Amino acid sequence: NKPEPLKVMISGAPASGKGTQCQLITKKYGLVHIAAGDLLRAEISSGSEMGKQAKEYMEKGQLVPNEIVVMMVKERLSQPDSQENGWLLDGYPRSLSQATALQEFGFQPDIFILLEVPEDNLVERVVGRRLDPVTGRIYHLKYSPPETEEIASRLTQRFDDTEEKVKLRLQTHHQNVESVLSMFEGVTVKVNGNVSKEEVFAQIDSALTQLLEQKQATLGSM
Ligand code: AP5
Repeated sequence: NKPEPLKVMISGAPASGKGTQCQLITKKYGLVHIAAGDLLRAEISSGSEMGKQAKEYMEKGQLVPNEIVVMMVKERLSQPDSQENGWLLDGYPRSLSQATALQEFGFQPDIFILLEVPEDNLVERVVGRRLDPVTGRIYHLKYSPPETEEIASRLTQRFDDTEEKVKLRLQTHHQNVESVLSMFEGVTVKVNGNVSKEEVFAQIDSALTQLLEQKQATLGSM
């Protein structure tokens, strides 16, 4: 018998390293990575009316209304691959109402990971971030530079990755983080995100391994 697949939420301030850790987690654990921000950016790229509306809020560093976000995330979580392989939800929920909505649909995480990084470092991380449109990999000009000239020449920047906009995103984060945390107190694991990405992953890896062992043990005793 196989234990139930892992259900993981990862949260933290803008640029705290959620996306970077999700790439490492999916590689090892095979979970389906569902990032609210990525779903919204895909909607913007599609040119849809919903994407246009979402972009107005993202430009201001504000939360996109629940009417757009909640269904988008719920749909993705309900897909067979997420149900079979387990899921890794990144950047959702960001408010109490988003957390409650998901609970009402029956989605409960086994673990809620919170990445902690001092505010001073977040602005530097945002301004130096670059993305590879071909592989989807996340780089940083100083902390995670591209491996080759070819990659370096094709890197792009996100429209909300400016110092001014990240300050607005941080404000929104501070307004909501406590209420979201209060919903997941029993399953929250705080991780020091202010060390190298490998060291951050080591902390997460150990928490997830422990969780899998517990699931296996519970199954064995049934
Ligand atoms: P979203 O795309 O989720 O952005 P965010 O939360 O601001 O987070 P980021 O993607 O900026 O950062 P990250 O934590 O993934 O960091 P990364 O790994 O890239 O949301 C964007 C917008 O969409 C929101 O503002 C909102 O408007 C809207 N939205 C999204 N979700 C929503 C929701 N649920 N409801 C309503 N609206 C929503 O790392 C950052 C940089 O640091 C990279 O360059 C990386 O290389 C570097 N780095 C990573 N780890 C380390 C390390 N350990 N040491 C040094 N550098 C590191």
